[in-house]
Amino acid sequence: LLRLETSQAVRDALEGMDRPLGFIPTMGALHTGHLALVQAAGAQCKATITSIFVNPLQFGVGEDFERYPRDLQADLSLLEYSGVSAVFAPAEADMFPPGFSTSVDVGAMARCFEGAVRPHHFRGVATVVLKLLNIVAPDIVFFGQKDAQQSAVVRKLVRELSVAVDVQLIATQRESDGLAMSSRNRYLNEGERAAAPSLHAALQIVYLQLLAGRSREAAFAAGKAVLHPLAKLDYLELVDADTFQTLEQMRPPAFIIGAAAFGTTRLIDNIWIRA
Ligand code: PAF
Repeated sequence: LLRLETSQAVRDALEGMDRPLGFIPTMGALHTGHLALVQAAGAQCKATITSIFVNPLQFGVGEDFERYPRDLQADLSLLEYSGVSAVFAPAEADMFPPGFSTSVDVGAMARCFEGAVRPHHFRGVATVVLKLLNIVAPDIVFFGQKDAQQSAVVRKLVRELSVAVDVQLIATQRESDGLAMSSRNRYLNEGERAAAPSLHAALQIVYLQLLAGRSREAAFAAGKAVLHPLAKLDYLELVDADTFQTLEQMRPPAFIIGAAAFGTTRLIDNIWIRA
C-alpha cells in the first residue's frame, strides 16, 4: 500500500498506475461502508486510490471538525489488504496553504436540506472534491449513497465544469438493525444508538406507503409515527435524485431523504429509488 502525502507525490505515482483508475475520497474513520466502495472500485478498475483528509472547509462553526474521529494507523491497516493501491493523506497546508480562497458553489442545490442546516458545507465539499479530482485524475470516482445530496452536488459540478470522470453511487451499508453505517455513529450513547435505526424505519414506511399509492401526507405521517421519541426530526422528504427539488409523486430517479438528531449527533439516511 503506497502512502502519498503531497499532491506532487500523487502526480509522480500516477505515471506508473494502471487504468481505469478508481478514486474513493474519504475523511478516514473508515468502516464497512467505505469497504463497499473499495470493493466496487476493485471490480471495475485496475488500480484504486483512496484519500483520507478531514476537510476543514466543509465544517461550520460549532460543528465536529475538532472531534471528528482521526486514526490514520487504523485506517491504513484496514486498507492494507483491501486491494487499494495507494492512499493519499495530505496535510492541511498542502491542500489549503495560507491565502487559499477559491471556492466552488453549485447554487441552490447546496442550500436546501443539509445545505440549509449547514450553510457552507457543500461549498466546502465541492471545493475539496474538485481539487482532489484534479490531483488524482481518476476515471471513476465512488461515493456512498448515504450522503445522497453530496453525490448530487458532485454530479452537478462534474457535469457543469466538464470534469472528465464517471461518478458512481454505491448502496448504503447497514448494521443488522437497519442503521446506516457512518463514522458519526460512534458518537451515539447506548440509548441513542438503540433509537437511531428508527430513522431508517421511518424512511421505509414512507417508501412502502407511497408505493402503495397513499398520499404524501399520509405516507409522511406514518413515517414520522415510527420515529423513536428520542429522535428530533429535521426533515423527511421525497426529492428528485439530481436536483433535490421536492416531488409531489414518487418516480425514479429519486430519494426519500431524512435527517434527525439523536442527542447531539445528527444522522442522515435515505432510500434510493433507482431509475
Ligand atoms: O463524504 C466524505 O467523506 C467527504 O464529504 C468527502 C467526499 C471526502 C469530501 O471531504
